[in-house]
Amino acid sequence: MKTVIIVATSRKNGNTTKSADALASVLSADIIDLTHYQLSYYDYQHQNQDDDFLTLVEQVLQYDLIVYASPVYWYAMSGQMKVFFDRLTDLLTVKKLMGRALKNKYNAVISTGAEATAPDCFVKPFALTAGYFDMIFLGNFYFPVFEQEVAINAAFEQYIATTAKSLMQSI
Ligand SMILES: Cc1cc2nc3c(=O)[nH]c(=O)nc-3n(C[C@H](O)[C@H](O)[C@H](O)COP(=O)(O)O)c2cc1C
Repeated sequence: MKTVIIVATSRKNGNTTKSADALASVLSADIIDLTHYQLSYYDYQHQNQDDDFLTLVEQVLQYDLIVYASPVYWYAMSGQMKVFFDRLTDLLTVKKLMGRALKNKYNAVISTGAEATAPDCFVKPFALTAGYFDMIFLGNFYFPVFEQEVAINAAFEQYIATTAKSLMQSI
């Protein structure tokens, strides 16, 4: 099962990146960091087709399991992730074949936040968007961080191990 983790956070080497790196090493997954790509906002006129979005999607389509990694920022996905999600609209309009190629791929989310649990409104856009593209949504795997920096302690290692196991058992 070829797995990619798409990271979208405002903090280099922060909690999201640490979680993604740890999970990637257990799953032998590749990482795509959205901050390394030039992605413009959704454009109704589609005059942004020469930015990095389509190249990025071509890359992502090579994988069977796509894991999004986002912090919870104001009850929602990070801004970087939202720009990427808005651009998925291109796959329903100008690049339909690419959109159809997402069908039956597995999809999941890993996230961190300061609250004990992730709010439903954080998870819904991921779950509903996966459904829209006929993808198989495996859930949001959330780790609460009570400090600015996630501690690489037993609880964190347990979270990564449980997430990896759960993902592998679901596919
Ligand atoms: C702009 C901003 C908004 C945040 N909003 C929330 C929130 O709504 N709920 C929550 O549980 N934590 C919230 N947090 C805490 C972050 O989710 C948490 O610190 C996370 O681990 C940060 O990940 P990062 O290091 O990848 O940025 C917020 C943090 C920031 C910087």
